[in-house]
Amino acid sequence: MNFTVSESIEFSNNIIKSLANLKNKNIEIVVCPTFMSLPYCYQILSSFVKLGAQNISHTDHEYGSFTGEISAKMISDYAEYVILGHSERRIFLKEDNSIINTKRLFSIKNNIKPIVCIGESIDIRNSGKYIDFLKNQLKECIKSDYKDKIVAYEPVWAIGSGENCDLEKVKEISELTKSLLDNDALFIYGGSVNKDNIHSYLSSSGVDGVLIGSASLDKNSIEEMLNIIDANS
Ligand code: PGA
Repeated sequence: MNFTVSESIEFSNNIIKSLANLKNKNIEIVVCPTFMSLPYCYQILSSFVKLGAQNISHTDHEYGSFTGEISAKMISDYAEYVILGHSERRIFLKEDNSIINTKRLFSIKNNIKPIVCIGESIDIRNSGKYIDFLKNQLKECIKSDYKDKIVAYEPVWAIGSGENCDLEKVKEISELTKSLLDNDALFIYGGSVNKDNIHSYLSSSGVDGVLIGSASLDKNSIEEMLNIIDANS
């Protein structure tokens, strides 16, 4: 819930130059604004990046009487990706694994690639039962087979806390994910990723990308991260 439409437009215009200068063609950048800003960001940024949404409706309808909902079909003019099951939605909107699996199917049906978020709370991590917990999230959120399997591992305790998860722990979950789904599944890490730690994740085998929250809201920080990506390509 960041940026009004006019702020999104201004921000998008401000980052165009850095995106246009990016020489590393091996990296795919996806910008996921709010629903309201999505069409505007698409118009400004779609020559340089892919666009994604932060959610879709859980109802299996393209259109209909679902006041306030936005379907996968409705975002499909703009979005190539959608983030599903972010822990904030699980916590505040009570989304469970079965809803996330349902949304995943609707997004696939509408040619939108789902980025499925998983992640344990600090209590579950400390209890030592996090592997079972994450296995269960993976199994229940990704029930059907489909080529584009993208999993974002976002430990709840690392999101917005400034306390990023260390690489060894991330790699453990990457191995778990790829062994449970398949080796071609893309594994992304998210949780306090910033200009100081992005390189270590992106240069690690087993980590195919990063999901960046707070650090993506600042133009200078985006520029620095793009420079790091370019310098290490
Ligand atoms: P953060 O957020 O980068 O601010 O920790 C990540 C997220 O919201 O997924």
